[in-house]
Amino acid sequence: MTPDDITRTFLDHYHRHGHQDAPESSLVPPPGDPVLFTTSGMHPLTPYLLGRPHPGGRRLANVQRCLRTTDLDEVGDSTHLTVFQMLGSWSLGDYDIATSLRWGFGLLTDGFGIPAGRLHATVFGGGGDGEGPDDTARDTWTGLGVPVEALGEDNWWSNGPTGPCGPDSEIFVWTGDGPPTGTPSTDARWVEVWNHVQMRYHRHPDGRLTPLPHSSIDTGMGLERLEMVLRGDRSVFTGDGLRPWVDAVGERWDLRGADLRVVSDHLRSAVVVLGDGVRPGNTGRGYVLRRLLRRALTVLWRDDPARTLNDLPPQVYGDTLRRFRQPVDVGSLHATLVDEERRFRGLLRRGRSLVDRVRARGPLTERDYHWLHDTHGLPRDLVDGLLAEAS
Ligand code: SER
Repeated sequence: MTPDDITRTFLDHYHRHGHQDAPESSLVPPPGDPVLFTTSGMHPLTPYLLGRPHPGGRRLANVQRCLRTTDLDEVGDSTHLTVFQMLGSWSLGDYDIATSLRWGFGLLTDGFGIPAGRLHATVFGGGGDGEGPDDTARDTWTGLGVPVEALGEDNWWSNGPTGPCGPDSEIFVWTGDGPPTGTPSTDARWVEVWNHVQMRYHRHPDGRLTPLPHSSIDTGMGLERLEMVLRGDRSVFTGDGLRPWVDAVGERWDLRGADLRVVSDHLRSAVVVLGDGVRPGNTGRGYVLRRLLRRALTVLWRDDPARTLNDLPPQVYGDTLRRFRQPVDVGSLHATLVDEERRFRGLLRRGRSLVDRVRARGPLTERDYHWLHDTHGLPRDLVDGLLAEAS
C-alpha cells in the first residue's frame, strides 16, 4: 500500500463509523499557542478535548503534519523522523475506549491485513496520581485475543506539562523474522504503530489534575511507520516519501548509514517547515529550521566542503510538498535553501579564523563565547563544533 492508499483506507474506515474530516493545521500553531510547532494530530484539537464543541461534530478524523524536536537526537536510527504525518481519530465525549480499540483492531487486521497474531497491546497499569489500572482496555484486548501488557508511566499520555491527558493503550506490530517472542517492553522488534489515549483529565499549571467535563478519545498513528510495517520493512527511510531523498542524497554525495538518514530527514523536514512559511532565523521556529539545515550541511561538508544543495533536483522538493499538501513554489523554496547554505558557509569561514585567534590565547571563557555570539553572530554550538574540528 502506498501512503496515499493507507491514508484513504484510514479515513474511509472512520467515515464509515460516522467521523467527519477535521481540517489539517499548519505546522505553525496560531498566535498565543505556547508550542513552536504542531507536534501531534491532537494538538490543534486541544480546546475541543477540553470541552468546547467542535463545528465538525463529536467524531473526527484526519491526517496532520507534525514536527517533534524531542526526537531530534534519535533521528539517524531507522524509525524516527523529525517531520512526519499522523493519522488521527477522535471521539469528543462520544464513544469509549473499548469502541475505539475494537475499531482500531478491525482496521489493522481487515483494512490493512496485519495478522492478528502479530499484534501486541500495552495498557496503563495504574500509578502516578492514584489512577487505577485500565481494566476496560485490558479486557477489550483480551476479548479480541490480543496479548496485552500493563505498564506504568509510559502509558500515561500528555502533550506537555499542562493540558488534557490520561491513560493510553499502545498497539505494537511484530517486525521480527520468526514468530513473535517477548512483549513490547522486553523485545524491540515489537514496533509501536498506534496510540489510543483516553483524555479524561486536565493538568493545570500548578500540577493539579482535575477530571474533564467529558472523557474523549484521541488516537494517533504515524503514517511513515505504518507504511514501513505494512511493507514488512524495518526502516522508514525505504518508504515512498523518504526514498526520493535517500536516493538523491546517496547518489550525489555518496553518504551511507546514519549520515545518509540524518541528511535525508533534515532536508526533507526543512522543506516542509519552509512550506508552512517559516524562514531561517536566530530565534524560535526559524532557529529550529536553521539548526536542521546546519546539521545536514555539517554532515555533508565533513568529507567534502564543496558539496552544495544546489545539486539537489527540484523534483525531490516537489514530491515532498505534494505529499504534505503544501502548494508552494519550488523555485523560491530552493533559493531560500541555497541562500541559507551561503550564509552558513560564510559564517564558518569567519568563525574559523575568529575561533583560532581566541583559542591561541588559551581555553575559551564565557566572555569569549558571549563576544563571539553577540559581536560576530556565532552561536555556542557552532563555536564548539569549530573547536572540536580544530583539536
Ligand atoms: N496524542 C497521541 C500521540 O501523539 C495520540 O494521538 O501519540
